[in-house]
Amino acid sequence: PAADARVPTFHPSRIPPYAKLLENLELVRSLLGRPLTLSEKILYSHLKDAQADLAGVGKDPTNVRGKKYLKLNIDRLAMQDASAQMALLQFMTCGLDRVAIPSSVHCDHLIQAYEGAEADLKRSIASNKEVFDFLESASRRYGIEFWGPGSGIIHQIVLENYAAPGLLMLGTDSHTPNASGLGCLAIGVGGADAVDAMTATPWELLAPKALGVHLTGQLSPWCTPKDVILHLAGRLTVRGGTGKIVEYMGPGLASLPATGLATMANMGAEVGATTSAFAFTPAMSAYLEATGRAEVARGAEAAAARGLLSADEGAEYDERIEINLSELEPCLNGPFTPDLSTPLSQFVAKAKSESRGHPIELSAALIGSCTNSSYADMARCASLAEQAKKRGLKVKASFDVTPGSEQVRATVERDGIEQTLRDVGARVLANACGPCIGQWNRKELQGEDNVILTSFNRNFRGRNDGNTKTWNMLASPEIVTAMAFAGRLDFNPMTDSLTAPDGKPFKFEPPSSDVLPSKGFAQGDVGYLPRPVPEPQPEAEVLIDPSSSRLEPLQPFDSPFAATAAEGKYELPSMRCLLRIKGKCTTDHISAAGPWLKYKGHLSNLAENTLIGATNGELDAVNVAHDCFTGETDTIPGVAKKWKARQQPWMMVADHNYGEGSAREHAALQPRFYGCNLIVARSIARIAETNLRKQGVLTLLFENEDDYLRIGGGDLVETVNLTELIRPGGSLDTQVKLRVTKFEDDGKTVRETFELPTKHTLSAAHLDWIRAGSALNLIKEKARA
Ligand code: F3S
Repeated sequence: PAADARVPTFHPSRIPPYAKLLENLELVRSLLGRPLTLSEKILYSHLKDAQADLAGVGKDPTNVRGKKYLKLNIDRLAMQDASAQMALLQFMTCGLDRVAIPSSVHCDHLIQAYEGAEADLKRSIASNKEVFDFLESASRRYGIEFWGPGSGIIHQIVLENYAAPGLLMLGTDSHTPNASGLGCLAIGVGGADAVDAMTATPWELLAPKALGVHLTGQLSPWCTPKDVILHLAGRLTVRGGTGKIVEYMGPGLASLPATGLATMANMGAEVGATTSAFAFTPAMSAYLEATGRAEVARGAEAAAARGLLSADEGAEYDERIEINLSELEPCLNGPFTPDLSTPLSQFVAKAKSESRGHPIELSAALIGSCTNSSYADMARCASLAEQAKKRGLKVKASFDVTPGSEQVRATVERDGIEQTLRDVGARVLANACGPCIGQWNRKELQGEDNVILTSFNRNFRGRNDGNTKTWNMLASPEIVTAMAFAGRLDFNPMTDSLTAPDGKPFKFEPPSSDVLPSKGFAQGDVGYLPRPVPEPQPEAEVLIDPSSSRLEPLQPFDSPFAATAAEGKYELPSMRCLLRIKGKCTTDHISAAGPWLKYKGHLSNLAENTLIGATNGELDAVNVAHDCFTGETDTIPGVAKKWKARQQPWMMVADHNYGEGSAREHAALQPRFYGCNLIVARSIARIAETNLRKQGVLTLLFENEDDYLRIGGGDLVETVNLTELIRPGGSLDTQVKLRVTKFEDDGKTVRETFELPTKHTLSAAHLDWIRAGSALNLIKEKARA
């Protein structure tokens, strides 16, 4: 390695616990007695109690996959700055001194792109100072590795430092699966799940199904791993991977670089997959060595030799897809959805015939982001830029480059790659998310129809610059770079020529580069490196300004049974119904995003948006509720806030699939914060249901769906026999009954009282959470004991 090669930040804790995993795998094999897929091996060898979860399930894989909830030990956790705020605030309420597993915080989402790296970083640090100070101080106190603003994008840093074959890790970001490119299983979760990991509480996951993707052949010179996933997204659609792990296999796998596998795993999120899995390959060893982790490579090689890191011969998959890499063509996906995949030649042909229905002139081309910012990505793009530069060409669209990490930035700077890109007109942005997550100050084009081409992963309307008229297409960084020179979408760099300043035609040769830097990775600014495995500093103060509008310490929720548990009574206090919600009520309806995002760490302020998108079924109006105590109507959070002030517990009635959408935990925290103890629905989305129970909200389903119409705003609702279910040792078979009292218009005279039967899907663990008032309270109780 050269003199500027990486200063080792390596620590033995970064080697997965291979001996233990192999031992567990033996137990799993003896219990299941059948060939295992790779993802089954990694997941099941992380079971807290394989005997309890797998004994007697038989040899049929479908007895486990899609059916059994697994309780898993997590090896590592990573959190990005936006989601880490609530994760850490929740962790703090547990009263523990330190995180129980290696964890890291990464400041990347809050950096806005505007002028270029230096100025953008300075401005964003100033405007987010209180959040960064909080994250840094909490990391110091609890022993978390802190990667400050400018150090890089969470997924690139995780790949360079923490990802390792066989590891099971969680991250509070939907593209956490990026790390799976190095042979681990990395899964995106919400903050409440992150607290499970930080407190070593076994993490629950419905055993995913296995979708096998068999790769044969070899990519052609213009084709990249990005094109594999762009093509697959077209075949699977945005829902095709839901509840599944996409497991790649076959002879084509060995030809792909580890960072390319990370790109494929990254965009597995776009087909809804839990994560992706790749058998261990020599390319992974090479990447581990290049990033200063030879010990991990040796450990992985030994574990692979004993069968941990690849599927067994004859393993069964729930679905199987074949891809011949030799037949692939570069793809362009979009606009507005990542699964609208078109081979480049067809896309360009259509653009030439001017029938695409949008402008074909590019307003911007962007490369990098967590999806495509490896050394090889940058070097291959520079190989194209170099060819064009030699012929005097410059890009015709604005061309932005986002390096994924300080290590990549410093290496491409040292190797002249950055200069080559700048010479043809590129602007280099900070090592952060920027335009990929809407942190792109592009006011000059607001409201205008325009087209951009990016090497990113998502392209929903408004995703990049907040402008719903920005048509956004996804492609490999190489195709983005080449098309930037034409400045148009009707140019196929594989077949078409441009005109050089000398009037002669110029045609690109295919891109090429080393996969890894021949001189080793450069270190860059060492100020960005955290201390590996920092010791917690219990005396360190966690910095939260009491006057802050963005951060607020969380107060633990009380158990609703605190006053009666000693007598063995577990009925919820008498509640009033806040409203009956009609129709769709997603996590966005319950806790809106957009301008509210800046309050992610301040529950009182964020709660002001609670249910503002919900429709009141009785009043047939959005965000309106009737206050039975005052006779007035107000917004839904307006009435909820007043009821909280008068310490009035409440419940609500919901329609089908309440809480569908994302894993956004705020959608559970906010109603609970205002005093919601119970939600009764026709059906509830599974993640929302778990999140609500984690925060201590009981969820029940109507036994008779028509009963949905029998409870309305202002009704008095009481549980009749909840004690039989909730009391320690209670019966899960209990059918909980609700007593409903309706009043005349005066709000006082009783009109009628009746009972309604309900059903539930609660597990014993959920009952523990509800009894304690929240999962966090339970963790705290256990820690004290
Ligand atoms: Fe996510 Fe893009 Fe950052 S996908 S991690 S926002 S670079």
